[in-house]
Parts: sequence; structure tokens; C-alpha cells
Amino acid sequence: MSSRGSNPAHPSSGALPASRSERESTKGRTLHADPNAARVGDEAGASESHAKMRTHALSAYFGAAQVLRSIDLSIAEKRVTAVIGPSGCGKSTFIRCLNRMHEVGPGARAQGHVLLDEQDIYHASVDVVRVRRRVGMVFQKPNPFPTMSIRDNVLAGLKLNGLRVADPSSVVEQALRQVALWDELKDVLSRQGTSLSGGQQQRLCIARCLALEPEVLLMDEPCSSLDPIATARVEELMHALRKNYTIVIVTHNMQQAARVADFTAFFYMGQLVEHDRTDVIFTRPKERRTEDYITGRFG
Ligand SMILES: Nc1ncnc2c1ncn2[C@@H]1O[C@H](COP(=O)(O)OP(=O)(O)OP(=O)(O)O)[C@@H](O)[C@H]1O
Ligand SMILES: [Mg+2]
Repeated sequence: MSSRGSNPAHPSSGALPASRSERESTKGRTLHADPNAARVGDEAGASESHAKMRTHALSAYFGAAQVLRSIDLSIAEKRVTAVIGPSGCGKSTFIRCLNRMHEVGPGARAQGHVLLDEQDIYHASVDVVRVRRRVGMVFQKPNPFPTMSIRDNVLAGLKLNGLRVADPSSVVEQALRQVALWDELKDVLSRQGTSLSGGQQQRLCIARCLALEPEVLLMDEPCSSLDPIATARVEELMHALRKNYTIVIVTHNMQQAARVADFTAFFYMGQLVEHDRTDVIFTRPKERRTEDYITGRFG
């Protein structure tokens, strides 16, 4: 059982001492010596950002079927990147490759490189469990553990990872504050997580993820089962979280991508067609296929 021992205080900034030391000790490969390679920029270079993650020649397979084709994509640090594209184009597979969840399924494998802070998470020396802690995931359908209280749900990820915390109550408070649920729920923490509304459940699941102090948050259609008000709350939350976290969201909702994302990547049939600032993608895309998709001509 590992311990957070040297990190009893739960940092409010999203700074991650444990992960940093992991980063330093990880012997993953670094690709490309070019210092500019780790930057994500628009055409004018006006909103350049450091690339928190980069994929290089990333391909993914289910058995013999190739579903991602040599994807090169940089994900800007402390920004929201939306992944859009028609059903079946590989959006979920792509984000599942970003925390090595893809390979969990039978016959599923990935090939190529995924760099997190320039370290290849697919390198043989990398601890997959730690990768998944640094790159957390929120799923389409809120999935609080049904037999657990709200409080235990927030702490569940830590327990599953064998992490001890000095002050669990402050972890619960901090995580629920981050998702704007603390004031609503502070007096009913022993209620079952599943007794909450769908929107609250999704924010609880985000809190469970944040309690693990990830650096990157992957969200696969996190609002698809929510009503417009709950959706707006989750979108507000994403906007607030981007101060401290790098967020990748898969969405079918073009308005949502336009509202929440700094950058948007358009996928089509396993390929990355275009990636740019969201306003560029939605107002003057370079590719005809992007324009056809965002204007509803297909998909
Ligand atoms: N478990 C699986 N076994 C075999 N093929 C799969 C599996 N999961 C997905 N696929 C296939 O991989 C391709 C990409 O699927 P993926 O789920 O990544 O698409 P998506 O863009 O997320 O679609 P959606 O918008 O419908 O969620 C699809 O052709 C799909 O049929
Ligand atoms: Mg999907």
C-alpha cells in the first residue's frame, strides 16, 4: 500500500507533488528535441500554449481492425480541447489511449507514442496505474458506486489506488468544493451517491476523479445524459477547472464545443482531419470535411 505520506495537505491549486516526483523518476522516452515541438499554437501564434500531452503516430486497433490512423495531436496545458466527429470515428478510442484504458479491452492495442509532459506513457518502464492517476477519466453515464455514501464515493478512487490521506474529510470537502457541490451536500454526506440527481451524480464522479489529483481530465460525452441546466453546470465547472487542469472533452454537441473548448479536433473515420483554435474550426475551417460536419451536412 503506498502512501501520500510526504503530502498530507491536499493542495488546492491542483499542483501535484506526488506526480511531479513520478515525472522526474519516469524513464520514458522523450521525442523531438525541438523545444517548440511541445507547444500548441494558432496560426497567428497569439494563444500559444504548452502541450501537456502529445500523440505521435498513434494508431489503435480492435483485433485486426484499425480504428485510429497515425494521429499526431498536441493537447494544450490548462486549456479545454474538444474532440468532435461522427459516431464511430474513434473519439472514445482516442481519449482512452491517452490514459491507457484502450488496451484494457480484449484484442485492443495501441501503437505509436503518447507523451505526457514529453514522457512516453507507453514506454515499458511506465507504471500504468500512475498514468491513470495523472490522466483521470469521467464517463458518459454518471457511475457513482451504488452502495457507497457521497463521502465514500469521493474517496473511492483513492482507496482503490491504495492511497492513504492524512485528512479524508478535507479531501472530501476540497473535491466537492471544486465541483460546486459542497454547499448543497455538506450536511448529507452519508446519503447514497445514487440518491443524487443525474447532474449532481456526474459532478460527484468528477469530484471522485479530482480527489486523485490528476493533471489531465478526460471526459467522454459527460453531459449526454443530463438536462440543459445540469449540462450548463458541468460546462461552468469545466471552465473553472481549466485554471488548474488540462481537459479533453468528447462531445457530439457543436454548441457545447464552441462554448467550452479553446481548441477543437475534428476526427473522421479514424483520422484527425483538423485541429485548431475552436473559433477557427467553427468559422473558417481549412478542410472541406470539417466544414461539412460542423454545418450538419453529415454525421
Ligand atoms: N470493443 C470494441 N470491439 C471492436 N470494435 C470496437 C469496439 N469499440 C469500438 N469499436 C469500433 O471502433 C471504432 C471507433 O469507436 P469509438 O467508440 O472510438 O467511436 P466514437 O467516435 O467514440 O463513437 P460514438 O460517437 O458513437 O461514441 C468504431 O468503428 C467502433 O465500431
Ligand atoms: Mg464514443
